[in-house]
This record gives sequence, C-alpha cells and structure tokens, in this order.
Amino acid sequence: METKVLKPTVENIRICGEAIRRGELVAFPTETVYGLGADAMQKDAAKNIYAAKGRPSDNPLIVHVDSIGAMSAVVEKIPPVALRLAARFMPGPLTLVMKKKAAVPDEVTGGLDTVAVRIPLSRTALALIRAADSPICAPSANTSGAPSPTTASHVLEDMKGKIPYILDGGACKIGIESTVIDLTRETPRLLRPGGLPVEKIKEVVGEIEVVTNASVALCPGMKYKHYAPKAEVFFSAYYDKMTDTIADWYDKIVSRGGKPVIMCLDENAEKYGKRDVITTGASYDDYAHNLFADLRLADERGYGYIIAEGVPDSGIGNSLINRLIKSSGGRII
Ligand code: TXA
Ligand code: MG
Repeated sequence: METKVLKPTVENIRICGEAIRRGELVAFPTETVYGLGADAMQKDAAKNIYAAKGRPSDNPLIVHVDSIGAMSAVVEKIPPVALRLAARFMPGPLTLVMKKKAAVPDEVTGGLDTVAVRIPLSRTALALIRAADSPICAPSANTSGAPSPTTASHVLEDMKGKIPYILDGGACKIGIESTVIDLTRETPRLLRPGGLPVEKIKEVVGEIEVVTNASVALCPGMKYKHYAPKAEVFFSAYYDKMTDTIADWYDKIVSRGGKPVIMCLDENAEKYGKRDVITTGASYDDYAHNLFADLRLADERGYGYIIAEGVPDSGIGNSLINRLIKSSGGRII
C-alpha cells in the first residue's frame, strides 16, 4: 500500500474523512502526539489499528470527539466531575475514562465496560473528526513499543506501507501523551501522567488516587514495553551531583567500546565537556516536547546508549519521569 503524506487542506481532510468512513486508517496530528485513527464505531476498523501497530488487542484505544456534547455518543452517563474537568481542560491533553455505551465495539475498549475519551486541541484533528462524522479511536501512531511520533516523518518511519494517509500538521506542541484519569469510582484515579500536570487536575477535583503498584494493570497499556528506541536508555535520578554521575557513566561506556550520548537541558551541556550530547531545550516543557523526537534522533545517529538527565518530580516533570522510566526499562542510575 502506498502511504500518502498530505497537508491538512480542506480537500485533503475531506479525503481522509472519507477514508475513515470506509474503515481505513488515517494518522493525524494532535497537541500531544500523532494518533493512528479509525472510526470508533466500526469494529473492523479498530482491528486494523492493532494490526498496523503490532499492538496487543487487550490494550484499549482512546476515543477522540470534537465537543463535550459528542461525548454522549460513546459514554453511558457523563458524571458531573467530568463536566467540570471538561469545562476547564477540554479541548486539551486530558483523557477521561467513563462507563461506555453499548454501541462502542469491544474491539475499541479491549472488552472493558469503560471507554477513554478526549477532545484533542488541534484544528486538523477536530476537522478530521467532523469530516468522518464519527468519533475516531486512535492510539499513538508508532509501532507498538517504539517512542511515540511527534512529527509526520516519525509516523512515516513506522507506518510506511501500512496505512493510506498521514495528515502532516507539523510538530506536536506538547510532545507527550494525554493524562488519563479514571472517573468510574468515588475518587478520581490517575492512570497515566501526561501533558496535563496532575496538580492542575487536583485544583478541580480535589483528591486524586495515584496508582503506584505497577503490577496491577488498571490502565492496560501500563504493562507493555513502551517508548523504547533501539539504543539502550539509562535514566538518571534528579539530584545535586547528577551531571557528574552521568559523565562517569558515559566514560565507563566509552571505555568498554560503547557509543553513548547524553540527553540534557541546554544549560547543562557545557558541564559534559567534549562528550556527545543531544540538548532537549531550555525548560522541562521543552524536554517533554523533544523527548520522543530525541530518542529517535539518537537511533538515527547510531548511538548505542542514551543517558537521559533526571528532572524534578512535579508538574510536567512527573510525566517525563514516567516516560523515561519506561523507555529505560527501569535502568535508573
Ligand atoms: O495523547 C494521547 O492520549 C494520544 C493521542 C493520539 O490522543 N493517544 C494515546 O493513545 O496515547 P495510546 O493508545 O498510546 O494510550 C492510551 C492509554 C493506554 O495506556 C490505554 O491502556 C489507556 O489509555 N486506556 C484506554 N482506554 C482505557 C480504559 N477504558 N480504561 C483504562 N485505560 C484505558
Ligand atoms: Mg502509545
């Protein structure tokens, strides 16, 4: 199959909307990462997603809608807390898990009786949902296990020949996926930290339960290998002498014949002297924005090891730590 990369013009969005209606897959930009979209109400369309990604089919998909009102097409009963969160944060990088309507196929929810819903903050994504005239289910548009794509060319790397269309909306603004909150119990529960810092959500809902026991796979996606480039990733804890320890690890890897690179904030680059670095920007928001792209870049440049700087555990830092722990497979230095 030929994979066409299209600019998000009115005509191209119409073409892609029709492809979705035919049950085909279209990759599209959102403010978080690129999604691999299909009609959420056609069970066979969702099956195509699992095949293209090589993703286990018990890992449910996020359903994207274009308005708060449109949520009721897939959600049985929208609780008041969802409306309060939606009023403040939607469209935006927040996904809410609620009881699903029977019309949502099991293929989309991995057989669960709940559905994850979000409204993306991207004109192209919203226009595509409207052109398809249906909610669009979409995971991140990467091969299962690889870093999520934040540009159309990342999607092409992973999906070339497997899907007909990629809508190219440029680089995603946030760069890591949405925050997933379970609203099916008394107390809202954080299932995946993400683009919307949990502190902001607490301002609206008060307490949030944070699931720390990773062996309980509440959010089925948590139990799979994730965000891993080909290079072996080491992730540093965040502390005073972090840059010294990272430099030592780098030298140790070199002395054993390995080819490492350090992923660091701009301001720290000079602390590593002549060692190879990939700079992630001036702030932790930049780090989040660039993380997945930089993991792919390190592979492209042929590095065998990536040593990633740690960040403070608050705000977007908390979500960054989650992604870095996963892409390093827990190799923390
Ligand atoms: O920002 C995002 O959320 C991106 C863009 C494309 O919207 N999507 C994304 O999808 O990250 P994906 O499939 O890579 O991650 C969805 C996560 C998975 O961890 C999945 O297990 C969880 O949401 N999830 C989906 N439906 C769920 C449900 N009903 N209950 C619990 N967790 C659910
Ligand atoms: Mg993903």
